Amino acid sequence: MRPLSIRARVLYLAIVFAVLLVGSVTLATYFFVADGMASSAQNTTWRLTRLASQAVAKATTTAKLQAASEGLFGEDREQEAFRLLMRTVPDLFTVGAVEEGAFALYVQDADESQFRLVWFSDDRAVVDDADGLVQTLSDRQPLQTGPVDRDLLTGMFTRADLGKYIVHVPLDLPDNMAGVIDVVYLPTREEGILDSARSPMFIVGVFAMMIAVLMMQVIMGWVLSLVDNVRTAADSVDAGQLDVRLPEEGEHEIADLAKSLNALIDRLRRRAEAQTRFVADASHELATPVAGIRGYVNILRAWGAEDPAMREEAIAAIDRESRRMARLCSDLLSMIRSEGVLDFRNVRYDINAASREVLAGAATRYIDRNLEFVGPDEGPLWLYGDPDRIEEALAILVDNSCKYTEAGGRVQLATRRHRDRVIVEVSDTGIGIPEKDLSSIFERFYRSDASRSQETGGFGLGLPIAKHIIDASGGMIWVRSKVGSGTTFTISLSRNRAKEPKE
Ligand SMILES: Nc1ncnc2c1ncn2[C@@H]1O[C@H](COP(=O)(O)OP(=O)(O)OP(=O)(O)O)[C@@H](O)[C@H]1O
Ligand SMILES: [Mg+2]
Repeated sequence: MRPLSIRARVLYLAIVFAVLLVGSVTLATYFFVADGMASSAQNTTWRLTRLASQAVAKATTTAKLQAASEGLFGEDREQEAFRLLMRTVPDLFTVGAVEEGAFALYVQDADESQFRLVWFSDDRAVVDDADGLVQTLSDRQPLQTGPVDRDLLTGMFTRADLGKYIVHVPLDLPDNMAGVIDVVYLPTREEGILDSARSPMFIVGVFAMMIAVLMMQVIMGWVLSLVDNVRTAADSVDAGQLDVRLPEEGEHEIADLAKSLNALIDRLRRRAEAQTRFVADASHELATPVAGIRGYVNILRAWGAEDPAMREEAIAAIDRESRRMARLCSDLLSMIRSEGVLDFRNVRYDINAASREVLAGAATRYIDRNLEFVGPDEGPLWLYGDPDRIEEALAILVDNSCKYTEAGGRVQLATRRHRDRVIVEVSDTGIGIPEKDLSSIFERFYRSDASRSQETGGFGLGLPIAKHIIDASGGMIWVRSKVGSGTTFTISLSRNRAKEPKE
């Protein structure tokens, strides 16, 4: 099965996220409202309780006064007061704010064993709770017994039901009777509010979910369109178009990615251009000896049979040109090899010993040039790197000094320590390099005019190879020269263990 696309994943995620977020916000809002309604019902219940006990107390006093005014005394007065009170009770609870509740009046029997329901405002007020009545009288204070365990989600999906609020209130009645008035409040008003909030809450919730999903999709669409631009550009690069540029506008991660990719494309383009230039230069360099050989072959064909001197000269020239080609091929190979980074070692070696070896090699090769070779004669100077590669670079420099110095001149290799670096100087008393050429001599196939005219037969590959080796070893190379008096190449190398070689 094909894995889900990012767009589909984000859509699912957005839906889950929206449901969770909107769901929890709705739920929290609902609990908040439901809790408010419950406490409002609670407040109403206690208000009714206060009103009821005040009304009964007032009516009791009135009844007692009226009984007294009728000229009754003792037991008779108390009984009359009780009777008068019982008569006024129904009126007490049918006026004003008290109407909100339902009430029932219980009177305890003389033997204190049973409660008698003497009056109730309506059926809602009759709750069967004999134990509660007994406890109320023994505690002598109001006792709330309802509602029991309110359903937490009431009104969320079904009609709201906040329960029945019940308070038993103890009463002192005339004639030494004890009674309890039950105050019952049915919170229909609060339940109505909860019920009326249900539909709007549902509609707002669904809308909020849809908006959240839509917004996420819009944002995702924008991000994916940016990614699509990057992909299109990558496809073009794949098709060989290295001049594409990705749009870098904006301050976001995709723009950063585009910048990195643009840098990568630039690097690829520069490398491709360098390669093209290199191949063009190399074939141009090869074309010269090939043209020479073909010319001499034609000479041989035309005059070779008759003119032995001409034949010898042509054969010698063909020999020279083919050697030159062979050398160029070997230089090209060594150049390509030097660009590989894998075979750079990192070992401890003595640069003075390496320098002496390089000089000794050059001295045997240029034995007929009558040059003076001066090398470092002090003890070991240790540093880290690849001794073979560094010797190769030094050999290139010493080779140039030998080639571009007149007979009797001097070629010197000196080393010294400078802080945590080693400085190596290859100097000569040769022909020097013209100032205009100094910036170009490290480029491939570059040769100054003076050396072109010379019979030294180089290709302009030595210095680029040397520079690559020094760069890859974490070092630096620079040159000072004066036409007619000599040239000094200076190399600075770190003495410490080198980091990963650079590309
Ligand atoms: N010590 C030097 N004295 C005078 N000119 C130099 C010296 N070293 C380098 N050059 C100049 O720099 C050019 C480039 O040197 P490089 O070593 O790259 O090539 P090359 O010596 O001409 O050929 P190759 O080294 O490939 O055989 C030389 O052609 C020469 O003009
Ligand atoms: Mg050279």
